[in-house]
Amino acid sequence: MVCLGNICRSPLAEGILRSKLSTNTIVVDSAGTGNYHIGKKPDLRAISIARKHALDISNLKARQFEVSDFDNFDHIYVMDESNYRNLIQLARNDQDKRKIKFIMDEVYPNQNYNVPDPYYGGNDGFESVFNMLDEACTLIAAKLQ
Ligand code: 4NP
Repeated sequence: MVCLGNICRSPLAEGILRSKLSTNTIVVDSAGTGNYHIGKKPDLRAISIARKHALDISNLKARQFEVSDFDNFDHIYVMDESNYRNLIQLARNDQDKRKIKFIMDEVYPNQNYNVPDPYYGGNDGFESVFNMLDEACTLIAAKLQ
């Protein structure tokens, strides 16, 4: 799960997807394309919306996406077009590029629909981001297991 800061959208997506998997043999992780928040916990608003839905993401720590992630993961879900462009630039070959998918394409195929960045908005933004990610992760979990 990849977003810009790895403190709002992608840690939520990580927690949500993990909670929907009944096996712990699938590794779920998240990262940011940016380096501003490395080592930080998720944004308090993300922790709070997760908690409201009985998920604890408070122990996650932000990290920056690395090229080796293309080797370590089969599927790389981005939140928006900017994340997509950033990862396409880091991709070394077509195999890497094929792993990069818009997460909302799971719900609305081929629409390249963006999960809006909730960082500068209010709590409503986090609620709607949670709901979008929850819908996408339900479908991803069903597909993976
Ligand atoms: P995220 O949200 O990409 O969903 O983690 C953001 C977090 C921080 C910033 C931007 C987006 N920022 O500019 O610091």
